[in-house]
Amino acid sequence: ALPTSVESLLSQMTVVEKAGQLTLNAAAWAGSAATALNPAGAQTNFEGQLAEVRQGRLGGVFNGNGAEMARQMQLVAMREARLKLPLVFAADVIHGFRTVFPMPLAEAGSFDADLAERTARVAAVEATAAGIDWNFAPMVDVARDPRWGRGIEGAGEDVLLGRIMAEARVRGFQGRKGLKAADAMVACAKHFAAYGAAEGGLDYNTVDVSERTLREIYFPPFQSAFAAGAGTTMAAFNELSGVPATANHWLLTDVLRTEWGFDGVVVSDYTGDMELIAHGFAADEREATKLAFLAGVDMCMQSSFYINHLPDLVAKGDVPMARLDEAVRRVLAMKVMLGLFDDPFRRIDVRRERTRIGTPAHRKVAREAGAKSIVLLKNEGDLLPLPRSGKRIALIGPFVQGKRELIGPWNVYGTDADAVDLLTGVRAALRDASMVTATDGSGILEPLPGGIEAAAAAARAADIVVLAVGEAQTMSGEAQSRTDITIPAPQMALAEAVAAVGKPMVVLLRHGRALALDGAVKDAPAILATWFLGSESGPATADILFGAVAPSARLPVSFPHSSGQAPYYYAHKNTGRPNPPGDRVAFKARYMDVPGGALYPFGHGLTYGRIAYSALDTGDGVLASGGKLTVRATVTNSGSRAADEVIQLYVQDVTASITRPVRELKAFRKVRVAAGASETVEFTLARGDLTFIGQDLKPTVEPGKFRLWIAPSAEAEGVSGEFTLA
Ligand code: IFM
Repeated sequence: ALPTSVESLLSQMTVVEKAGQLTLNAAAWAGSAATALNPAGAQTNFEGQLAEVRQGRLGGVFNGNGAEMARQMQLVAMREARLKLPLVFAADVIHGFRTVFPMPLAEAGSFDADLAERTARVAAVEATAAGIDWNFAPMVDVARDPRWGRGIEGAGEDVLLGRIMAEARVRGFQGRKGLKAADAMVACAKHFAAYGAAEGGLDYNTVDVSERTLREIYFPPFQSAFAAGAGTTMAAFNELSGVPATANHWLLTDVLRTEWGFDGVVVSDYTGDMELIAHGFAADEREATKLAFLAGVDMCMQSSFYINHLPDLVAKGDVPMARLDEAVRRVLAMKVMLGLFDDPFRRIDVRRERTRIGTPAHRKVAREAGAKSIVLLKNEGDLLPLPRSGKRIALIGPFVQGKRELIGPWNVYGTDADAVDLLTGVRAALRDASMVTATDGSGILEPLPGGIEAAAAAARAADIVVLAVGEAQTMSGEAQSRTDITIPAPQMALAEAVAAVGKPMVVLLRHGRALALDGAVKDAPAILATWFLGSESGPATADILFGAVAPSARLPVSFPHSSGQAPYYYAHKNTGRPNPPGDRVAFKARYMDVPGGALYPFGHGLTYGRIAYSALDTGDGVLASGGKLTVRATVTNSGSRAADEVIQLYVQDVTASITRPVRELKAFRKVRVAAGASETVEFTLARGDLTFIGQDLKPTVEPGKFRLWIAPSAEAEGVSGEFTLA
């Protein structure tokens, strides 16, 4: 219920003012980010937008530009509009504000919920200091197709990791002191639903998955985000089995409201309602408005369809006033929760904006998060860590120097200009900075004249080569799908030429997705997945390269052997003719030209320690109905350095009334194992952990035999055994 004072405002509102509260447009302030894409019905002139505020025709703006803009707009809302309803300021703060953290997919690889909460918290402290109340994050879409560039914003292919990261990020953005806190912003779990299941990995494409798959794979991270308190959600662009999510009553009302009891705001994605016409689902703007609104979209982003058409739809009786009031109540309730009715300027403070953004303490968290997101894929002959002195190091590749290609594709407020490159990070790590050289060798997509010769010469003059190759930041993110997920040809030519020099070579991958590795890159003795790491990219990478920090991240997505193997994810079904991982057996479910399984599976990642798993103990091997099963294993580090090992528990339900994946992650723990030490890890499994969506589309658990692995990745054996659910 709204406070009486706000309820009384609602009773005084005209239908236009109500529709105004449901209208959210890109900020038109000069230098704001979002209007350029497609202004649709939104004002692109700031004075024009202020006029809309004055007339009560606008409920809020997004992706604006700082506290001064917000102050000017809020002043008009408070002084010049009839009912003085505060505006809400939204933004895409995906992985940091001015201080940029690793792209969310990379950070998910930390398998560290505490870290994800802390980076989200810093993002909230900075964003709210610039006047932002509402964050269009976290993206909680499970993404199993590396061709889909939007995967960078989520937590990857796994449901459990997705749930845990969703919760952590919501807690971080919203804080733990309540949404009225000046440094809290309300989170938006997006994109509801199954945006990551786009056919062929093509962004915005058709999604046709079963209700079971929705309930088992794509819904759970949303449920976790809501359980953690996420106050809003965003309807996805895609259709779901013929009905666009933006107009999907089953999804937005039957499931979300009736079944789950979600009471927050549903916002459309940017012109999502307008796109119902292109989908071939609505004939015109008026019908699109009606369909989206009656399906359950409360607030309309960027098209202005609601302000343009709801008054007439209500007047003609095509939309009930009760539905209009319901949506307005939700938006007003969000503004109440955010404390905007108590103090509309609580997050608008130009002085706070100057002092709270990009601080050294925040940069320290970025560096920590960066190092904790780097995955050591391979380390033959213990080439890594590199010595800090005594060796000449050649940094080669288009990603080694310059303030570019560091922070990733979707940063409204951070810039590469504020980020630190690899060369700077390496120089600072070396005892003698003159021991390192930097050579581009190639452009990202185009060869560089003379580049290969210069790179080969640099390699010859060095003792060790560090080759940084991969994708430009414009090759992933929204609308950046690829059919070919390999490293671009000019960089592969560079890699071959540099490898031919014959020096020990470490490959640093720069990427927004899982890549299909080949040739000299795949064959290099040491490979680090470094994604887009944000403001402290160079220092964080140097921390791992020279061993100040031991690698501890794991792949949140499987790396397939080739592009054509996509989508590949570890939790696939067995089929009637299973092909063993790593093998290629005729008349089995295999490709003729690549081994089965992943090149590097979900959960894979090495460290500088030397880890072995032993001594699985499943007790009496029986999980009694209503009881718990405790399972243990021993993890031994025979290396000379401490390791942070991500110990993963996988289960396979061997026979069930619905076929089950070959493995499913059920728990994980990150454990510090000192050099030369062993740690016994204990997990507890309960009946509820073995739930699946049954034939009746309800959660169910069936007794029988289960296989279990405690392992360092989804396709490693680790230690394995069986148990029975009684
Ligand atoms: O929040 C985003 C969404 O994820 C994709 N379309 C644009 C929105 C607003 O910027």
